[in-house]
Amino acid sequence: MFEDVRWGLSQPQKQLPSKYFYDTRGSELFEAITELPEYYLTRTETALLKTPVSGWVTEMAPASLVELGAGSARKTRILLAAMAHGTAERTYAPVDVAGDFLLATAEALRLEDPSLDVRPQVMDITRNLKFVGELPGPVLFALLGSTIGNFVGESAQGLLSNVRSAMGESDLFLLGADLRPGAGKSIERLEAAYNDTQGVTAEFNLNMLRALNRDAGMNFDLAAFRHRAFYDEEEGRIEMHLVAENAQDVHVPGADVVHIGAGESIRTELSCKYERPLLTRILESACLEIVRWCTDEEGLYAMALASPV
Ligand code: SAH
Ligand code: AVI
Repeated sequence: MFEDVRWGLSQPQKQLPSKYFYDTRGSELFEAITELPEYYLTRTETALLKTPVSGWVTEMAPASLVELGAGSARKTRILLAAMAHGTAERTYAPVDVAGDFLLATAEALRLEDPSLDVRPQVMDITRNLKFVGELPGPVLFALLGSTIGNFVGESAQGLLSNVRSAMGESDLFLLGADLRPGAGKSIERLEAAYNDTQGVTAEFNLNMLRALNRDAGMNFDLAAFRHRAFYDEEEGRIEMHLVAENAQDVHVPGADVVHIGAGESIRTELSCKYERPLLTRILESACLEIVRWCTDEEGLYAMALASPV
């Protein structure tokens, strides 16, 4: 356990895996982020899900929806409603590492719609998705919220290959991705989405250390850390850090104490931003091809529907 924490804190640029954001409080803080005026991602994706993505889904008429990193599944209701046009019997399999939050989401959906067969899977989405073989097809896989951005380089490709391995020939994959700055989107707007004036993102960032203190027996001094988020234009990604204002020694599970110097930072998240050619390439490297594509008018956000090659 916590091998990734040991590894991350031994790197020259200290880092922690972003999946540790999502204890129950972290999941709630993320929900609060989605409602912030600066965080355009969720609002824009919601609008695109209504039009045109619902039409794509009605056309495909999937019997099952597998949602990776489902969270509260708020936007998913739009997809489930579109599925209802094609068939009365629908299965929804939300997958997430945040176990308690996922089970609460599943329960809420069952109450809202007793005709829906809800089969939550508490697991890391980078692992084998073999449970999918038991679901009625065709299956629509969805990775919403620009969560693909939190997986970088090989790990993004690994995740997509993992999805492709679970897919049958008539299944489809729906992907939501935040776009790089361009004509209708300034770097300032992008950076503001990760530096909200109410400090919710800062609290979400800091909550990871609180979760690790509790779950991994660590002793980060929370009061000593400051939130920092910026866009790296060359890499095309937001980096989120926690900067230590005072030096401290932190117990690492199964390893020696790690020293964090004053002014040193721990990188807690990368949020990669995309362009169509880049998405086409990483999907292609996982043997998937884009069959439908849309963006909002400002060019903030994109949705791609991909099928097995
Ligand atoms: N899909 C929702 C939530 C996005 S937040 C939306 O669009 O608003 C990212 C979600 O992915 C969280 O619920 C988090 O718990 C989950 N997550 C992050 N890394 C994960 C991993 N490696 N395996 C499974 N779930 C993960
Ligand atoms: C879940 N994920 C796509 C969010 C993002 O924008 O990268 C997490 C987040 N981090 C800070 N604000 C929101």
